[in-house]
Amino acid sequence: MSAEQKQNVSIVSSEELAQQQAYADLVRAVLDARYSGAPKAFVHTYGCQGNVADGERIKGMIEAMGYALTDAIEEADLILFNTCAIREHAEDRVFGNVGALKNRKAENKDLRILLCGCMMQQPRVAEKLRKSYPFVDIVFGTHVIHRLPELLYRNLSTGKRVYELPDSAGVIVEDLPVHRDSGFKAWLPIMYGCDNFCSYCIVPYVRGRERSRAPEAILAEARDLIAQGYKEITLLGQNVNSYGKHPDTGWNFSRLLRELNALEGDFILRFMTSHPKDCTHELLDTMAACEKVARHLHLPFQCGSNRVLREMNRGYTREKYLDLLQYAYSVMPDLSVTSDVIVGFPGETYEEFLETVSLVRKARFTSMYTFIFSPRPGTKAAAMPDPFSREEKGRRMQELLKAQEEIAAERTAGMVGKDYRVLCESVAKNGRIEGRTQGNIIIEFPADPAVIGSFRTVRVTESLIWILRGELID
Ligand code: SAH
Ligand code: SF4
Ligand code: F3S
Repeated sequence: MSAEQKQNVSIVSSEELAQQQAYADLVRAVLDARYSGAPKAFVHTYGCQGNVADGERIKGMIEAMGYALTDAIEEADLILFNTCAIREHAEDRVFGNVGALKNRKAENKDLRILLCGCMMQQPRVAEKLRKSYPFVDIVFGTHVIHRLPELLYRNLSTGKRVYELPDSAGVIVEDLPVHRDSGFKAWLPIMYGCDNFCSYCIVPYVRGRERSRAPEAILAEARDLIAQGYKEITLLGQNVNSYGKHPDTGWNFSRLLRELNALEGDFILRFMTSHPKDCTHELLDTMAACEKVARHLHLPFQCGSNRVLREMNRGYTREKYLDLLQYAYSVMPDLSVTSDVIVGFPGETYEEFLETVSLVRKARFTSMYTFIFSPRPGTKAAAMPDPFSREEKGRRMQELLKAQEEIAAERTAGMVGKDYRVLCESVAKNGRIEGRTQGNIIIEFPADPAVIGSFRTVRVTESLIWILRGELID
């Protein structure tokens, strides 16, 4: 794709959204005639926070069409799975759960079954569904979420299956209704898609080209969230560090952070994901200077070997990554860094894997998301010779987890006796209140559930490797 085409980001027009609103009214009329009360909808999202943010907009549209959302799948009149394609395991789970809906549909012909999200953007998945899952009513891709009312109306009025899976560079849609899962934590997408084509990754194929929302739209959404009392706003993108490049918004990510930080109110800002190749000293300085930006950086390194990093097409070296971390810790000594790592990339030798372990020991991550390489059909890495067995990769993973566990234990042990400002989030199974530090570490403490949704100071009394226990100070 040429640079010029890249600039040509298409924003869904207000006329098109008004048309969808008209379809939503038509759906509502069909439902009013068919059901005595509001029919129920069960929506489940798999995958990353970007997908969860899509799911919240899907729920918003479903509510606007007259459904009531439910957590009980057995009472649902509409079931929607918003899927993820990042690893084979994620896809297997979806196929399993969709297969289990066959009997439900046999018992209730009016039940509508809808599938969307990243998995659907792969032709082989759509083909399999078409052939072997005839009870699925609507299948739609990541670029047409805003057309859900139209697709549902088409299905309800004809009874025919609807497949809407255009291949597209992607669009930006503003002002969709949104049903947020939390009343105090919000996802705020700032960009969509990805242009990086890391050789193992399916995202660029299923999410289209990288495109940034206008800063005014992001600021307006943030202001609205703060006015509604949201306490934590997480900015989302596959590579937030390249915010503002396509189209050229005139703002880079640092400027966006500074302007958001300047908004009035008691809230914290988080962001993910940062890509090391685009993580600048300017950004780290900005984080250090912005008091509302959480002292947490999620910076996936994927691998500690330069040869493998090159094969992955990551665009940085181990040295550059470690230099960045050193700088980050120098300007934010209390920074908590988390990361993603892939074990068993095709052809990665044991010695190269040991470079990952040594990077982990140097980096001193708070925690890591660890994945065994999963070949994604259509990506470059899926076609590479992969000589090491699953068992061997599993053994390496255990070795890596052991190293990280020691580091995490040391880090959390060092927090005992200190006080942290914590956003109280939920009641844990053991009855304690669960919150998160700015560094994104879970902390449990006895308190009245009334504290949920507020910031409190908690003193750490005990460390349990990955999580903390504490007591409420005020
Ligand atoms: N945009 C983010 C990552 C999004 S995907 C970034 O570049 O950092 C989240 C994580 O899933 C990745 O960081 C990677 O560790 C993992 N992942 C992606 N594709 C994978 C694959 N094919 N097999 C195993 N893990 C994978
Ligand atoms: Fe995938 Fe790489 Fe894009 Fe992240 S930056 S979404 S790993 S292609
Ligand atoms: Fe999965 Fe799509 Fe996110 S593949 S990780 S849901 S962008």
